[in-house]
Amino acid sequence: MIIENQNDVTKAVLAELQRAPDARFKEIMAAFVRHLHAFTREVKLTEAEFQAAIGYVIGLGKHTNETHNEAVLMSGSLGLSTLICLLNNGDDGQTETSANLLGPFWRMHSPATPNGGSIVRSPTPGPTMFVNAWFRDRNNQPVVGAEVDIWHSSPEGFYENQDPVQADMNLRGKFTTDQDGHIAFRSVKPAGYPIPIDGPVGEMLRALRRHNMRPAHLHFLAVKDGFKTLVSQVYVNDDKFLETDVQFGVTRHLIGNYVKHENEPAPAPDVTGPWYSLDYTFVMEPGSAKLPRPPITGKASGERPRIPHLAAT
Ligand SMILES: [Fe+2]
Repeated sequence: MIIENQNDVTKAVLAELQRAPDARFKEIMAAFVRHLHAFTREVKLTEAEFQAAIGYVIGLGKHTNETHNEAVLMSGSLGLSTLICLLNNGDDGQTETSANLLGPFWRMHSPATPNGGSIVRSPTPGPTMFVNAWFRDRNNQPVVGAEVDIWHSSPEGFYENQDPVQADMNLRGKFTTDQDGHIAFRSVKPAGYPIPIDGPVGEMLRALRRHNMRPAHLHFLAVKDGFKTLVSQVYVNDDKFLETDVQFGVTRHLIGNYVKHENEPAPAPDVTGPWYSLDYTFVMEPGSAKLPRPPITGKASGERPRIPHLAAT
């Protein structure tokens, strides 16, 4: 159609979308165009602002490579990743869910580790932590024989892949649930960490006066035929960034009770001083046991990275 005025633009684009043979694609594109045009009218986007927005999109691509995905980081920073997670899990958003974000640091082929074993593979200073996790189905029956990947940051806030000081696969392990749907492992308590701010996400956070911290957490990925692959994180309950997670990942259900033990004997005789424990039960939903695509494949070399901390103001 020939466009007579600004109202006609939306009609013209929606009319052309009718050609699409894929009904779902047509539905998504039509809603996207309607909302994009309505958003533009609502804020009366100027030409200069439009150029700035295009710059952000170009920056997302330019700052993405084999070891870093700026588009995923931006989706998290806008809450979109968590919204999509909560809409697609917990009975399609009807009930609370153990599901959470995968994050950028899952690697395949974590070392198989026996239940009760340690995932500390090179000297890693920090308080010892003993974790017991149970995996249940919706009827509260144990999920037996699930493969569970664990990964987390060091007490200094670095994943091993970022940190040449740590051994390959440090603070990562693969466990198999026993007859009670249970795994257990020993590690050190993770710390929160800053997300990179050298791209458009950093620019946006600065403009919004937001900090760039994620609260401390453990990552879990559980796979068993007949169940939807469970991607989860369990957050440390005493972390000061729980309510302002830069990636909006923290849900009430996934705040774990990390208990500090002082003057109490630890489950291992070599532990002296305070130590932590976490007990947590996950619920796996029926579905397909597909693995996500690993966001990274290797480990950094050279210097330990320096990621600046932004303060919220
Ligand atoms: Fe993480």
